[in-house]
Amino acid sequence: MWLQSPGLFLLLLGGLPTGSPGAEVQEVHALVGSVAELGCVSPRRASFDLQDLFVYWQVRVAGKLLSVAFYLGHNSSEDPDPQFLGRAHLSPEAMRRGDFSLRLSHVGPRDRLTFRCLVLRKSLSMAAELDISVRLSVAANYSTPVVTVTSESTAQGGGLTFTCVSTDGFPEPRLHWLNRSDGSPLPGALTNCSLNPRGLFDVVSVLRLPPSPAASVACCVENVLLQQNLSSPPEPSPSPSPSSSEADPLHGGNSGTTLSVLGGLVVLVAVVAGWACRSQCPPRGRYAGVQEAKPEQELVDHA
Ligand SMILES: *[C@@H]1O[C@H](CO)[C@@H](O)[C@H](O)[C@H]1NC(C)=O
Ligand SMILES: *[C@@H]1O[C@H](CO)[C@@H](O)[C@H](O)[C@H]1NC(C)=O
Ligand SMILES: *[C@@H]1O[C@H](CO)[C@@H](O)[C@H](O)[C@H]1NC(C)=O
Ligand SMILES: *[C@@H]1O[C@H](CO)[C@@H](O)[C@H](O)[C@H]1NC(C)=O
Repeated sequence: MWLQSPGLFLLLLGGLPTGSPGAEVQEVHALVGSVAELGCVSPRRASFDLQDLFVYWQVRVAGKLLSVAFYLGHNSSEDPDPQFLGRAHLSPEAMRRGDFSLRLSHVGPRDRLTFRCLVLRKSLSMAAELDISVRLSVAANYSTPVVTVTSESTAQGGGLTFTCVSTDGFPEPRLHWLNRSDGSPLPGALTNCSLNPRGLFDVVSVLRLPPSPAASVACCVENVLLQQNLSSPPEPSPSPSPSSSEADPLHGGNSGTTLSVLGGLVVLVAVVAGWACRSQCPPRGRYAGVQEAKPEQELVDHA
């Protein structure tokens, strides 16, 4: 009779150790927002009777056993934990073939858990057909780092302050500043990492350099889990196209400056055009000036 009550059964399972001793834990990586496939496949090439199966996917959070998804051979009134409601799916079609894998959609940082797949068979007196643990690690791609530069007045020493910003990554990044001329690391930056409301990390790093004629630096945000280094926009490409005008040879070392200079130029051009038009053109001419400025403005906003 108690088999009919998944709640009670979950409670009983709660007394079991997580994962059988010595059992391997599979590792699955997923990007935030993506769908994770957590594998749980019977090695036997058998076909399974759904009525005979009790399939549980569970996690333990702060000592509490939570239900992620389950299939109990027939309808059950229990819901999975709200954290997984509507996100965790088992496929009855696949389960008939012995594939009890879980599809977890909209993966987030809170899903960094070890998921246990437990498949029991009624006809075998509830013996375990499968008991597999899958550890999910979650990563999010940092935004391309953007560097802005400010120069101190000569009274303050005339140095340069570079500020690098990158957002919405996971896990916590390693941030490197490099000298673009020779690729050597530039120490001494102050880096501050904070968790944003989406559960992802934003990072701000400030590097001060003494006065120098042509300081060209790169800010690199390293995501250890993705094994990826994202650099602030690189040196000018040999043949800059109009769409990649951030590759300005004059300001290649720093996109922030480049873009603000570009933005400044655009505004200047627009103002001059506006002036010229006010004195010489019909009023519509002024709009042409503003519209020309738009693509550049978008580029600035985008960056
Ligand atoms: C992360 O974003 C960068 C560009 O911002 C892209 O080049 C890279 O392929 C992305 N990586 C992943 C794993 O999505
Ligand atoms: C960057 O490297 C070049 C070449 O080695 C060197 O001349 C320059 O001083 C370095 N810049 C900084 C800021 O260390
Ligand atoms: C780091 O950033 C957070 C949030 O922006 C701020 O509250 C905190 O004071 C900063 N810490 C340092 C050492 O700059
Ligand atoms: C990223 O760059 C840093 C500094 O240059 C380096 O130490 C690290 O190995 C790089 N990581 C990857 C995954 O390329």
